[in-house]
Amino acid sequence: MFNPENKLRTAWDFFVLAITVLGAIVIPLSVIFDFSSSTAAAVLLWVIPILFIADILVQFNTGFYRLGKTVTRRSSIALRYLKSWFVLDLIAALPLGLIIGVLVPDPGTVLLLISLNPLVKLIHSGTTLYRIGGTRVNPAILRLVLLVFWILLVAHLVSCAWILISGNPDSLDSASLYIRAFYWTITTLTTIGYGDIVPIEPAQTVFVIFIELLGAAMYGMIIGNIANLIANIDVAKTQYREKLDKINAFLNYRNIPHDLQRKINNYYNYLWESRRGYDESAVIEGLPVALKTTVSLQINREIIEKVPLFQTAGEDLIREIVLNLTPVVFTPGDTIVTAGEVGFQMYFISQGSVDVLSADEQTVYATLTAGQFFGEIALLLSMPRTATIRAREYCDLYRLDKENFDRVIQRYPDFAERINELAEKRQAENEAMQKSKESESKEKEIPEEIEEIQGEYTGEAVSLRWNWVRDLRYYEVVRKNPDTGKWIYIERKLLEPNTTDPHPETERPTTYRIRAIKTSGPGAWSDPVEIEPVTPDKEEPQE
Ligand code: CMP
Repeated sequence: MFNPENKLRTAWDFFVLAITVLGAIVIPLSVIFDFSSSTAAAVLLWVIPILFIADILVQFNTGFYRLGKTVTRRSSIALRYLKSWFVLDLIAALPLGLIIGVLVPDPGTVLLLISLNPLVKLIHSGTTLYRIGGTRVNPAILRLVLLVFWILLVAHLVSCAWILISGNPDSLDSASLYIRAFYWTITTLTTIGYGDIVPIEPAQTVFVIFIELLGAAMYGMIIGNIANLIANIDVAKTQYREKLDKINAFLNYRNIPHDLQRKINNYYNYLWESRRGYDESAVIEGLPVALKTTVSLQINREIIEKVPLFQTAGEDLIREIVLNLTPVVFTPGDTIVTAGEVGFQMYFISQGSVDVLSADEQTVYATLTAGQFFGEIALLLSMPRTATIRAREYCDLYRLDKENFDRVIQRYPDFAERINELAEKRQAENEAMQKSKESESKEKEIPEEIEEIQGEYTGEAVSLRWNWVRDLRYYEVVRKNPDTGKWIYIERKLLEPNTTDPHPETERPTTYRIRAIKTSGPGAWSDPVEIEPVTPDKEEPQE
């Protein structure tokens, strides 16, 4: 008993089909040219009935599917076969050609037609072809092959019939006679009809009328079918094109700017290139849970293989996550996550790359690529998003919602711990980066040299203040001796930008210069500053 999916059985079907087609070509030729005298044709005439009888036996021994189950009960199989193709198969298997050849030395047209009985098996060749093709071959291609096959077979049979009716008035050899007949058939069937070969006898004329009618009908059928068939060879592409046409018509109708239209078209092109325009989640939506799991695991195998976090995870965990992933696409420049917002999803990157930016978008914390994930911190610690995520290019992401994330985290503490570790590491990295950025910017504000010196007499002393300088080791301060014009040090290793000179001039202005000694070496002396002593207010004479 064969299983209907058995490979041997499929091979047998293919073999029988091939022999049937060969028979359909050779048997009519052997009828008109008396091929039975040639050994090859004679062998074929013997082989066909034997093979067809064997096929009937195979059919009686092949189970079939009913309501999803394989039926192998002999009585059910027999009943089903008897009710369907058995009679045709039996007629095709009868060795009528051989019997007629032996019993009737000069058979008439009717007997010759009867000997074409094996051709009856062709009636279910289409069904057989679809069964052999299964899901591996595009059904539209199979239909196209069948259409061409039937057209050629009809042309072949008509050519043979034309030879049978017209004989060989010009005494041509067999090949030339056949080619001429085939030429006549094609011109007539395609309604071209040059009129170079015309019917003479009444029988020929009647035959031609029929063939012309057949030609007109076939022509219509071919025109109607071919366009449809070709469009359906790539169903996805046809649907995608129609969708894009509709969208573009709408965009034009609403006067959407051309730049935006181009962006939309690019997005659809990306969808086509990356997933043939299919919405995966919609396709598997209607499947029962078990089948959905298997298909999801199959579809998402790539992402599971890419994410290092999943590689050490168990089957159950992967199943749980994968079943709840939703594919989403982002276009270049899209903001996927905004710092400070409340987060309800995390994402795994399947294709493309994203930038992780600080809230002010001035610092790029990291660039994440395929196999990495983001958005876990907000879910894990129930806090606002710690960073903004922006797509650098087209990104295929898989989204996991908070609800599912929480469930997974609760059920798989090991997994939770690993995510936690990474989240903490990321946060620490960001903090460190922010701090160094802050101190860098602070440093940038501190000048290189002493730019501003302020001083004033406070009683007998002068107090001086000036700005901090970058990269400082200490300051030096000198005072000018107004008599000799020489500068004398009053401070040599000052760490703060201020000092008090207890011995300034009292009657005349005191002049100072200050410089910074930096880690890179001594800086330049500042311009001299003169500090005027305060003269006590003269008392206004009282009137
Ligand atoms: P969440 O705070 O939810 O949203 C922003 C996400 O950016 C954050 O989760 C992390 O997943 C991710 N992220 C933050 N900082 C870094 C970083 N230094 N490296 C990689 N990813 C980060």
